[in-house]
Amino acid sequence: MEGLTRSLTFYSVGIPAYLKYEYYYRFLNSGSEEHEAEWRNLHASESKKGLDTILKLRGFYIKNGQMCASNIGNAFPKIWQDTMSVLQDGVPPRSYETVKEVIEDPVNGLGQKLGDVFTSFEELPIGSASIGQVHKAVLKKTGERVVVKVQYPDVERVFRGDVRTCIMFCKVAQPVHVPALEEIEKQFMTEFDYRKEVSEQASELHPLLKLTYPIRFARFARFARPSLKCASLRSAKAVQLETVRNNLIKSGLGGKKNGICVVPRPYSELCSKNVLVMEELVGEKLVDGLKKDFERYAKSLGKSVAETISDEEEKAEQNEDCERERGPDAKTMAAYLSLLNTKRIAKNVFKACTFRWNKFEGRDTLPLNHAQLVDQLIHIHGHEVLIDGYFNGDPHPGNVLLVGGKLGLIDYGQVKRISNEDRILLARMVIALCEDDKEEVVRLIRAVGYKTKKMNDDLHYIYAKICLDADNKTLTNGLHIQKFMEYLEGEDPIVELVSGAEWSGASHILTQRCNDAMITRSAQPREFVMVSRVSLMLRGLGHALKQPRSIAQCWRPFAERVLREEGVLEEVKK
Ligand SMILES: Nc1ncnc2c1ncn2[C@@H]1O[C@H](COP(=O)(O)OP(=O)(O)O)[C@@H](O)[C@H]1O
Ligand SMILES: [Mg+2]
Repeated sequence: MEGLTRSLTFYSVGIPAYLKYEYYYRFLNSGSEEHEAEWRNLHASESKKGLDTILKLRGFYIKNGQMCASNIGNAFPKIWQDTMSVLQDGVPPRSYETVKEVIEDPVNGLGQKLGDVFTSFEELPIGSASIGQVHKAVLKKTGERVVVKVQYPDVERVFRGDVRTCIMFCKVAQPVHVPALEEIEKQFMTEFDYRKEVSEQASELHPLLKLTYPIRFARFARFARPSLKCASLRSAKAVQLETVRNNLIKSGLGGKKNGICVVPRPYSELCSKNVLVMEELVGEKLVDGLKKDFERYAKSLGKSVAETISDEEEKAEQNEDCERERGPDAKTMAAYLSLLNTKRIAKNVFKACTFRWNKFEGRDTLPLNHAQLVDQLIHIHGHEVLIDGYFNGDPHPGNVLLVGGKLGLIDYGQVKRISNEDRILLARMVIALCEDDKEEVVRLIRAVGYKTKKMNDDLHYIYAKICLDADNKTLTNGLHIQKFMEYLEGEDPIVELVSGAEWSGASHILTQRCNDAMITRSAQPREFVMVSRVSLMLRGLGHALKQPRSIAQCWRPFAERVLREEGVLEEVKK
């Protein structure tokens, strides 16, 4: 389906839905039983139409649907999340022939016959989503089990048009989301544009390439590929994956032996623009593990899953003190789990004595430690952002597997690099948020380029808190986050998110406690937007599991380490 038709299809569903929602918000918002029922019907019918359109258009729309399913920013109604949840993994795949063609393509694929590389290749994918699909296979050379991630050949062109359509729509309907969408647009474009990233990485790897840096890399890569056989030149995705993996291993967080997470190893010589071959992580999807937990929980209450969901929703609505309900912390949960485990072992011993071997209960019958899970994910990503300055910008639950008691972290399509100056600025912001030093928070959020019409201090402070700290209803004045963002935009609209280059003179803002000499230029807001996105995603999972967190508090040790290493911690703490 070509550009204009795609846009029209989107608008034909998006505009009526938007108008309906506006109407409901204005006239059916009394909170009465009758109005609530109307809202539920609206969510049910519109989310269904939305899903049908997404499945028809695919591309960027699937990414948006996935964001809704994982409730990024805690902004989506439950009915919408549930409807969109099929997109987490259930997008209909493309044919095996298409996949084979992509793999065998001499320019953007591996340029070899599929049968020459793999002894077996499962035709049915284990995952398929917006930009490609994933298949299991076995390597011919070594017999190792791998997964092969294939990107659809036409996806890049279609994506560009789709993102533009969404931006145009938001400019009219939801201007508050435009800056974030524009950033996501840039980010997605780098997801396709491997050449720049590869040449940056390569210039670090190979002195010869320093000379070629100004040369358009596409031409050079084609010439270099057969002769240099420098595999890292061939796929930025493989380089990104490998870099994050090495960083995590170096920090002690990653690794099969002692780490808390594992990242698959890419086979660089088998990676190209549209193909990524990597180690298979054997485990379960986090989303499936959590689903099982919920089913067990419902069973323990003697209720069906649907009943339990509706009870939980009711409880959340009745929660009038604006504080979210909190589940047990990691230690309490660990103690409870060890008790359950002892019971499980005792039961198994009894079963063994009565020769009922087939009734054994495995460790996977125990629930997950939700608090620990949230803490670990926030910790790992805090390390990536603040210490490594190289982070996965898309850490939603669909990109997490459970691999033998560790987190399996996959999907490095949107990796972001941040400069040293930006890390320091972020570290300062984290400390200022922890200390609740409003003046400093406001100064720093402006230093990253946040600019609004009235430059209202109070609103800038709240915006910074929502981005990097917490999003409870006390902060948003009892409003739902979406409505709160609209309120912010109405009160003091964003003028622009200024780019780093334009902010070369920003250091005057960082007077008083900030060391001007150290911050030679301001952080680029682009990076700030992506870090906020990570923070919102991680908090989204926290809310879903009744484990709300302050990101700033969780990241404080990293922020202190950054500032200590820069020799400015004492000055900041003053
Ligand atoms: N290294 C891996 N080992 C095992 N399964 C994987 C691996 N990489 C991806 N998968 C499976 O494929 C699915 C989609 O992979 P992902 O990289 O998240 O692609 P997408 O860009 O479509 O989201 C995952 O949910 C997971 O089930
Ligand atoms: Mg994914």
